[in-house]
Amino acid sequence: MKKIAVINGPNLNLLGRREPEIYGRVSLEAIQQALEERFGGRCSLTFFQSNSEGGLIDHIQGLGGRAEGLVINAGAYTHTSVAIRDALLAAAVPFVEVHLSNVFAREGFRHSSTLSDKAVGVICGFGPLGYELAVEGLLEAIGA
Ligand code: DQA
Repeated sequence: MKKIAVINGPNLNLLGRREPEIYGRVSLEAIQQALEERFGGRCSLTFFQSNSEGGLIDHIQGLGGRAEGLVINAGAYTHTSVAIRDALLAAAVPFVEVHLSNVFAREGFRHSSTLSDKAVGVICGFGPLGYELAVEGLLEAIGA
């Protein structure tokens, strides 16, 4: 069974309570549970969230050889972090970038990503469902 790591960045621990008009009322825990229910029989999922850039990088480094695919919502670090991009490239694991909101319908600084050009695919604007679409697409891409 393929191992897929689902990684969430800063402020996503607040999902359900944080700006619900943008991010909805579903918690990160509920999103993770839905993923487990839908994909638990098809792949082995691990979940990690950190508010710190270093925490995310340490986790990605530690995945070397232990994950065959990654789904990442790097939150605001998406728009700023060369270091997370470099960690993903060093890990050399295919990844899908996901955002709950349609970042292209928001402020200009959210329109750029340090990750997108290296991602298998990018999903945004579908709320919590985006994580399921990301895992589905990733499994297809890695032939699972
Ligand atoms: C986000 C979009 C980012 O611009 C923002 O900083 C987030 C969440 C999303 O899921 O829509 O924290 O990644």
